[in-house]
Amino acid sequence: MATVSFKAATRIYPGSDTPAVDKLNLEIEDGEFMVLVGPSGCGKSTSLRMLAGLEEVNEGSIYIGDRDVTHRPPKERDIAMVFQNYALYPHMSVADNMGFALKMQGVSKEDRAKRVMEAAKLLGLEEYLERKPKALSGGQRQRVAMGRAIVRNPQVFLMDEPLSNLDAKLRVQTRTQIAELQQRLGVTTVYVTHDQVEAMTMGDRVAVLKDGLLQQVDTPLNLYDNPKNKFVAGFIGSPAMNLLTADITDGGAKLGDYTIPIDRSVLAKAGSDKTLTVGVRPEAFKVADEGLPVKVAVVEELGADAYLYGTAEHSGEHQQIVARIDARMPVEKGSTIRLAAVPEKLHLFSTSTDERLTA
Ligand SMILES: Nc1ncnc2c1ncn2[C@@H]1O[C@H](COP(=O)(O)OP(=O)(O)OP(=O)(O)O)[C@@H](O)[C@H]1O
Ligand SMILES: [Mg+2]
Repeated sequence: MATVSFKAATRIYPGSDTPAVDKLNLEIEDGEFMVLVGPSGCGKSTSLRMLAGLEEVNEGSIYIGDRDVTHRPPKERDIAMVFQNYALYPHMSVADNMGFALKMQGVSKEDRAKRVMEAAKLLGLEEYLERKPKALSGGQRQRVAMGRAIVRNPQVFLMDEPLSNLDAKLRVQTRTQIAELQQRLGVTTVYVTHDQVEAMTMGDRVAVLKDGLLQQVDTPLNLYDNPKNKFVAGFIGSPAMNLLTADITDGGAKLGDYTIPIDRSVLAKAGSDKTLTVGVRPEAFKVADEGLPVKVAVVEELGADAYLYGTAEHSGEHQQIVARIDARMPVEKGSTIRLAAVPEKLHLFSTSTDERLTA
């Protein structure tokens, strides 16, 4: 097992002026499950491929444990990778697929059989070992791909969207299995996904990337509670945080005729800006007599709670709003209600820098 360090690691693809990954600094602990998340094209796969040795590092360096692997070939890095399309060999049995890399390494037949059986037991694949991949379900194939990585007993697992070929329900089951398995094996893992729910449920820590730049790295809860900037605030959480541009007034943030009281010391951090971005999570809105007027479009009943979707009109702009409300509260579609933001749950961002204003 090992730690992984990206030290200002940069990848600029030939013919491109902007780096796909820009001075990435990331320290991954021994045994940690680190998730890289962000929108399409933000540099997740490139980062992973740099660690795997499949992509050149143009500047900076990468360490596995205390070894500088920046210019080492993939086979000297002691990693195992699980890809999105797990590309099993169709003509080989499950057992042979799982043992193939070991065979290439010259591991004896007996040792191979032993390690394949161990991995099969971990993954619940014992009864499928003689089958061909085409006779397996999507979830079982995914487990074979995991098995191929496990039998190699690597220092680091790298996974690039390994669940994206599975349907929604199987994805949820499989992500729990992978997280459990990783915990049991204790192997340092770097896992790539564009799905923030997957990131939040699986990662010990989550690194959020945008345009090749690391935005923030922290535990799922800290990301949720203390997003560093507007991008992380809007990206992490489902349904997403409401982000409203409000006018700064003496002692508050003004949205139409509704003023949210805010400490002067916090408002002062906005500098010369006339506006600030107020972030309100759906659960931080309360139906009240005074608040932001919202025209109700849909109420999604979930049993204990409900999500109210509607439109707010303030300062001449229409904006979609989502709020979590009590499912027992009668709210009519098409009616206008008022939503007040709970002051201690506000997230405030500078409109000029998008950085968080509160501590
Ligand atoms: N081989 C390549 N040559 C040139 N540019 C590339 C190459 N591979 C990726 N890129 C570019 O580098 C950027 C990062 O790509 P990358 O594949 O790392 O994104 P990603 O975060 O994995 O996205 P996705 O979620 O869509 O898989 C993108 O702008 C992409 O177009
Ligand atoms: Mg990718």
